[in-house]
Amino acid sequence: MTGTMKMPYSPNSLSQTGAEVRISHLGKSFGERPVLTDFELNISPGEFIAIVGHSGCGKSTLLRLICGLEDPSEGSIELNGRPVREQISEARIMFQDNRLLPWRRVLENVGIGQRGNWEPAALEALEQVGLGARAHDWPAVLSGGQRQRVALARALVSHPKLLLLDEPLGALDALTRLDMQRLIEDVWIRQGFTAILVTHDVTEAVMLADRVIVMENGVARLVRRIDRPRPRVRGDNYLSAIEAEILSRLLSRP
Ligand SMILES: Nc1ncnc2c1ncn2[C@@H]1O[C@H](COP(=O)(O)OP(=O)(O)OP(=O)(O)O)[C@@H](O)[C@H]1O
Ligand SMILES: [Mg+2]
Repeated sequence: MTGTMKMPYSPNSLSQTGAEVRISHLGKSFGERPVLTDFELNISPGEFIAIVGHSGCGKSTLLRLICGLEDPSEGSIELNGRPVREQISEARIMFQDNRLLPWRRVLENVGIGQRGNWEPAALEALEQVGLGARAHDWPAVLSGGQRQRVALARALVSHPKLLLLDEPLGALDALTRLDMQRLIEDVWIRQGFTAILVTHDVTEAVMLADRVIVMENGVARLVRRIDRPRPRVRGDNYLSAIEAEILSRLLSRP
């Protein structure tokens, strides 16, 4: 995309910088305990995937494998046709706890791991999340929602092709959470990266995702495509029906 005009959402407009992800026969065990078994998922460039599932079903393990923080026991994960290990700089992960360094100012936190003249890019990332004016503050003086924005800026500063979000909004109050959802959708549309969001909030999943995956015992059990333009409207019958289906699937298991 060129120029500064914001393009309306369409799947094609997203395909320029997002990574294609191919996960084949993925297995992961910790000692004797299998966590993922024969997990299969192909994600198109620029697609937004949400993953929901019971606590302990392997969601975080999956994200850690996708960004190369863990090695598979079996199978493979490819980003743009190459093994994750060779593509590690293309993917960034954001966690529920913001993991900011309290002894570094906001701008320095965003620039962690960046080389050369990193400050302009860090400031630009902070501006994208609406915190340009707080660059020289300490993390301690920010609200919880603002700290998560800083963590998002840190994830965005290197223009990742794949953004992994592991319950990034779980600790936020409901209103801040809605603001952050809008912000994540907005930067995703503008930057065109591929996104994988793990969430316990089924409404959030259907509001944001192109596809929602329900994980059960380390396998993708139910996959629902959400065919609705953005920004989506809460309470829409189509979205509510998919949400109810996913919830009843989750509740039907112990
Ligand atoms: N490094 C590890 N060593 C041993 N077991 C692990 C390790 N990491 C994860 N596990 C186990 O793998 C299983 C899946 O954990 P994971 O963190 O992926 O679950 P999750 O779906 O993210 O859960 P939650 O929703 O609570 O965050 C759990 O039984 C967990 O104890
Ligand atoms: Mg987890």
